[in-house]
Amino acid sequence: MNIGNIKLDKPLALAPMEDVSDIPFRAICKERGADLVYTEFTNCEALIRNVKRSVAKIKVTAAERPVAIQLYGSNGESLERAATIAEEQGPDFIDINCGCWVKKVANRGDGAGLLRDLKRFEAVVQSVIRGTSLPVTVKTRLGWDTDDIVILEVARMLEANGVHALTLHCRTRKQGYTGDADWTWLPRIKEVSDIPLIANGDIVTPQDVKSVLDLGCDGAMIGRGAIANPWIFEETKAYLETGEMPSERSMEDRINLCIRHLKGHAESRGEGRGVTSFRKFYSHYLRGMRDSSALRIGLMAFTEVEPIEERLREYLASQSLFASA
Ligand SMILES: Cc1cc2nc3c(=O)[nH]c(=O)nc-3n(C[C@H](O)[C@H](O)[C@H](O)COP(=O)(O)O)c2cc1C
Repeated sequence: MNIGNIKLDKPLALAPMEDVSDIPFRAICKERGADLVYTEFTNCEALIRNVKRSVAKIKVTAAERPVAIQLYGSNGESLERAATIAEEQGPDFIDINCGCWVKKVANRGDGAGLLRDLKRFEAVVQSVIRGTSLPVTVKTRLGWDTDDIVILEVARMLEANGVHALTLHCRTRKQGYTGDADWTWLPRIKEVSDIPLIANGDIVTPQDVKSVLDLGCDGAMIGRGAIANPWIFEETKAYLETGEMPSERSMEDRINLCIRHLKGHAESRGEGRGVTSFRKFYSHYLRGMRDSSALRIGLMAFTEVEPIEERLREYLASQSLFASA
């Protein structure tokens, strides 16, 4: 598939994730095989008002190309201006979030709220396209609820408007994250539209990626599966090539990556806020390790990076001794 001049062969994308897919995490995933990365979603009105946090969210780096800036909103004029502002940061394309399910976003007509008003959805797409010379893509859900699945109509509308790719989180707005993602809609989209299609939702193993590619998708996007295992991208590539599943990462690899991620996360947010918001990652990096819950609880008490690094290195050394005893 192509997104403008970007040629991609069955790309594996890191999903945009608020407070997760920042520059440090995108770099980690990129180095481990992610072909496409996206910024966290950014509100167009906040961007226009120059809100510090929003301006920080749309920063991108050359090392992570191809990279998209993700915007959301429902006011055409604001989206057009925000797309122009986003383009100045030098991303490769602009993605529009039309799938956010949280009440304060969707109930005011932004994000997945657009699935209840397809005329507005189309106007939003056209506004972003007017505001930028870059390719524009859309990420959305199946529909508002199971009685109102509109994705086939949406796919045709996006294609007619020249949108370069559609990423589908195969759930309804009402589902949030509950129930299973329904991948059966993916081949149905391919029947009615030629828009490049990136599958998303519950893709957590290399076999899951193979399954959605076998359904005719042009790429796969991984969110929570990448938080749990940032190596998923290179592991999937190896699996697709050889059919063999990679072995488990060593404790040393996981702890070293945890420390690097923590440092990046803290640097990009300021130490206090960064250390606190990093706590959600420990259970993933330390999963299955001996006495990991006690270790994790201990780490929660720290408010600075240095003692956390020290504690993790001490733990690693003690486990290595344990293993060689
Ligand atoms: C912590 C978190 C933050 C998210 N933030 C965003 C976001 O900023 N933009 C977006 O389009 N989707 C966002 N999502 C949704 C994901 O991109 C993805 O569609 C969803 O998690 C389903 O994919 P998965 O099963 O691979 O996790 C977020 C999901 C999570 C778990």
